[in-house]
Amino acid sequence: MNSLIVYFSWSNNTKRLVEDLNKKFNYDVLRIERKIPYSTDYNTCAYVEAKEEVEKKIYPEIKELGIDVNKYERILLFFPIWWYTFPMPVGTFIKHIKGYKGEVVVFANSYTNDLQYMVNSMRDLNNIDGTINFKEGLFNKSVDEHINYLM
Ligand SMILES: Cc1cc2nc3c(=O)[nH]c(=O)nc-3n(C[C@H](O)[C@H](O)[C@H](O)COP(=O)(O)O)c2cc1C
Repeated sequence: MNSLIVYFSWSNNTKRLVEDLNKKFNYDVLRIERKIPYSTDYNTCAYVEAKEEVEKKIYPEIKELGIDVNKYERILLFFPIWWYTFPMPVGTFIKHIKGYKGEVVVFANSYTNDLQYMVNSMRDLNNIDGTINFKEGLFNKSVDEHINYLM
């Protein structure tokens, strides 16, 4: 299936996962980037910037996508869990693809293996745009498990 990988990553775990599994598939890749980058300092990023965005439901501006997602039948969306759900720039991305008719498969990773994070993420994604066809993919799985899933 014609697929586009879209990911957000701050400390590059998600970036590494995407790059490793994509050696197998060679799908087009788009990185979601906040227009004003988060601090590189963990405490500032986590406890000030990201926390405020999640708590106040602020969708920060992101850099131009530069790609027409409608060319793809499927988006494989990867992100780390931030404060029990997806990072808010991912929400901004979802707002940008309003009207997308394909499937958006969701892959999340986090420090703690709490399955509730995936439940929260799916709920919050659907709350942003209930017309998009979100599908639960994998949570905290290895590169090989992702490859098997996508084969
Ligand atoms: C702002 C912020 C919030 C986070 N919130 C959570 C959380 O609620 N639960 C958790 O288990 N891990 C949390 N983490 C850890 C990340 O989900 C985890 O380290 C992830 O692999 C980072 O992916 P990345 O390297 O692609 O950014 C948080 C990390 C950051 C920076």
